[in-house]
Amino acid sequence: MPIQWFPGHMASARKKAAEALAAIDVVIEVTDARLPEASSNPMIDELRRFRNRPCLKLLNKADLADPAVTRAWMDHYNRQPGVRAVAITAKNAAEVARVPVLCRQLAPHRDDGVKPLRMMIMGIPNVGKSTLMNALLKRKVAKVGDEPAVTKHQQTLDLGPGMTLTDTPGMMWPKIAYDADGYMLAASHAIGRNAVIDEEVAAFLGAILLERYPALLAARYRLDPAGLDGPALLDAVARRRGCLLKGGGLDLEKAALILLVDYRSGALGRISLETPETRAAMIAAARAASAAGEPESDQAIDDEEA
Ligand code: G4P
Repeated sequence: MPIQWFPGHMASARKKAAEALAAIDVVIEVTDARLPEASSNPMIDELRRFRNRPCLKLLNKADLADPAVTRAWMDHYNRQPGVRAVAITAKNAAEVARVPVLCRQLAPHRDDGVKPLRMMIMGIPNVGKSTLMNALLKRKVAKVGDEPAVTKHQQTLDLGPGMTLTDTPGMMWPKIAYDADGYMLAASHAIGRNAVIDEEVAAFLGAILLERYPALLAARYRLDPAGLDGPALLDAVARRRGCLLKGGGLDLEKAALILLVDYRSGALGRISLETPETRAAMIAAARAASAAGEPESDQAIDDEEA
């Protein structure tokens, strides 16, 4: 079942973002380093290009992502005009301290001691915007939580002399262009629990882990991953962890949660769900399927239609 997601406030978020960008010098786009494209709202790139604003692309939660894959993504983004990509762990104050310096480099014309450097943080829910903002301001200004869409209102704050920081305007839901994006977002908890079924998401995650990180699975659950697929992995985890239903069957929902929580918390190890190559292959496959007359990948609702 493709994950359905209705981007309710997309149109109003776009309007607010377009207005706010007029008075901004650098866009700080926060994405999840484990799924940088799936966790990026294309509206952000579209609007900042329209306004001709440079972008500091922060691949956040780098502490949870596969370092080699994060490096590949940074190379990928740093080839794009007007973009500077940096891997970061927003929970780490020393890393966050680099952000204003990097923004200054992207807007040298604002470094005249008169005009303030105006930065705006944008990104979909749960990528770490509030954590970043709190670390930049060295105080708690927005509620930080693991449930999506906690940050709802735009606010502009002074960030030391000659610098202002505005947080994301409105609710920037992810635009789910491909089924895989929905599953990656759900696995990483950027989509709320009520929107998805844990077992399906865990089977999807399991398939990626079996293909790219089998050794991490073997180490964590002491199982042999050879020959398993996503659902069979859940069976195996349920057996290894004694997840049993009252009647004696396997409690696959419990096993799914174990896998998801182990991935989300980093207990499984440093994992990236997509690489520039897997992304390109996924898009090519979706296009080929669509050209062959198969139904559109999923809802891919355009902002205007929302
Ligand atoms: P948002 O404003 O974009 O919606 O995201 P928010 O800052 O609320 O962060 C969402 C979750 O991601 C929080 O977890 C936060 O701690 C975590 N997070 C943010 N940046 C990083 C990072 O660089 N590395 C890791 N590992 N986690 C990060 P939480 O479980 O709700 O809160 P907490 O108990 O971790 O504080």
